[in-house]
Amino acid sequence: MKIDAVTAVAEARVILVSDTHLSTSAPQAQANWDAVLSYVAACAPDLVIHLGDLSLDGAGHAADLRHGRAQLDRLPVAWHAVPGNHDIGDNPWPGAPAGIAVDAGRQQRWLDIVGADHWSITAGGWVFLAVNAQLVGSGLAAEDAQWSWLDEQAGRYRGREPIALITHKPVAAPGPELAAAPPHRFWPASARGRLARLFGGTPPALVMSGHVHQYRLLRLDGADHLWVPTTWAVLPDQVQPAWGVKRCGIVSLTLTAGTLAGQKLIEPDGIEQHTITVDLPDPYRRHGLAGYLPDELGCLGHRAVRRGEQPGLHREVVPHARPPGVRHVHPGRRSAGRQQPGVRRKQFVSPGLDQQRR
Ligand SMILES: [Fe+2]
Repeated sequence: MKIDAVTAVAEARVILVSDTHLSTSAPQAQANWDAVLSYVAACAPDLVIHLGDLSLDGAGHAADLRHGRAQLDRLPVAWHAVPGNHDIGDNPWPGAPAGIAVDAGRQQRWLDIVGADHWSITAGGWVFLAVNAQLVGSGLAAEDAQWSWLDEQAGRYRGREPIALITHKPVAAPGPELAAAPPHRFWPASARGRLARLFGGTPPALVMSGHVHQYRLLRLDGADHLWVPTTWAVLPDQVQPAWGVKRCGIVSLTLTAGTLAGQKLIEPDGIEQHTITVDLPDPYRRHGLAGYLPDELGCLGHRAVRRGEQPGLHREVVPHARPPGVRHVHPGRRSAGRQQPGVRRKQFVSPGLDQQRR
C-alpha cells in the first residue's frame, strides 16, 4: 500500500526498516523480509518507512528494483521509502570506482518503479522530511531541486513542529569517527555543512538513517541520530567496526504529540542473523561487482573471513511467552514509553549504545 499524500496522525507507531537488499537471487534476504512482513501484519503499525538499499543491485538491474517494489507492496500498511546507494548508485567521491555514481537515469528508474525519492509527511506530531541522500554531491539537476525543496520545507516547519530527517546515509558522528571514515559512509562533508546552514543552526530533532547495517542511537549537537539496522546481514568485525549493535532487525518508533515516546530494536520472529561471508557469500562478488561496492561491503570480496572469527556481542536469550511475529526487543534510550503488548524487553543495555551516551 503506497501513500502519496501528506498524512496527519496525532499518535503514531512507525516501523523503520532498512538495507533489505532484496532480489530474486537473494533467498536469505527474502526469508528475513518475510519475517518482517509477518511482524508488521501482527503488530499493525500506522506506517512503515524504508530507509534505502531496498534492492540488492537496483542500480545495475531494474529487475531488482521491481522486485523490491513488489515486496513493499506486500506490506499490509502504508509505506514510504527513500533510495540507497545499491538502489540508484552512490554519491561521487574522488577516486571512486568507475560506474558506481548515481546518475539521472538511475534516479529516474527509482521514480518510475518505486516512487518519490524525497517527501514529507506528518505523524505523531512530527514532520518527517525524507531526502534522497544519494543525490548529495552529484551535481545533478535533481540535487538542486531537492535542496530547494528541503529549504522550503525547513522554512515552513522550523520552530513549529519537531522535524525528523530521513536519509539513507548517516549525516554525522563524533569528530574522530567522521575523520576516520571512508568517504562513502556519511554524507559528504560539504553537504553536511549546507544541511546545517539550511536549518539555521537548529538541527532536526531526530535524524534517521540506514546504510551501515548497525543499530545505534547517539546524541550530537542537540539531535538524536538513530541508525536503523539491516534486515539482511551484518558485516564482520574484520571489515567494519561495531559502533552500535550488529543485529538484523527493525526499529519501532512511538510518536506522541510531538515527542519521541519510545524507540527500540526488534528482531521479528523468524529473522535469521546473517553475517556476510560468514553465513552467506558476498553476493556482490558473485554478481561480478567486486570493486563496485560503495560501502563497507566493498571490502568483503578481498578478505577471507572464517566462521567463528567474529567476536560479536553477548546476547541473553531467555525463554519467554510471546505473540507470533515477535522474537525479542532491544530497548533504546527513550524506551520508557508505551511497551508493545507481548514484547519482551531484553535484560541488558547494549555496550555500544551505552558508550555512545558518554
Ligand atoms: Fe547503503
